[in-house]
Amino acid sequence: MATFPISFRSDSDRIHGEHKALVAELAAFQSALEDLAFSDQVFANLYSADRIAHHGRRLASLLPEHFQHEETTLLPTVSHVSPELEEFAREICHEHQQIRQRLSEFCRALGRLEAGDDVAEAVNAVKQSGRTLAHDLSAHLALEESQLDGFL
Ligand SMILES: [Fe+2]
Ligand SMILES: [Fe+2]
Repeated sequence: MATFPISFRSDSDRIHGEHKALVAELAAFQSALEDLAFSDQVFANLYSADRIAHHGRRLASLLPEHFQHEETTLLPTVSHVSPELEEFAREICHEHQQIRQRLSEFCRALGRLEAGDDVAEAVNAVKQSGRTLAHDLSAHLALEESQLDGFL
């Protein structure tokens, strides 16, 4: 029978709290991406790009630590519960790797925009990489919250 460390409840509460902060940040990030997609005004686009940069940076500062918390507390514990959860934990770690890559791609695109490279192309790269990041992260958070329902 699986045993749960004494810190499990506080670890899972912290992770659930981090999810709430990430979901709020992600919603603001997605809203700025939508505004950029629907506007053809240069100044409106620069304002949206600025919001995308702000919320994207917040995500970049929150995500690495959040993934590390999950990989060192919640996932090792739940993976001892059943072979299915062990497989699930493996898949979650794999998704973390993928999202870390998405985040790097987005940060690189943001860096090119801020360096003043070809603005139209740089805005497009920020938009595309931001959308991919938002899509993958949103699906990831929803999967964790639904599959780890009893643990979070
Ligand atoms: Fe995760
Ligand atoms: Fe998570």
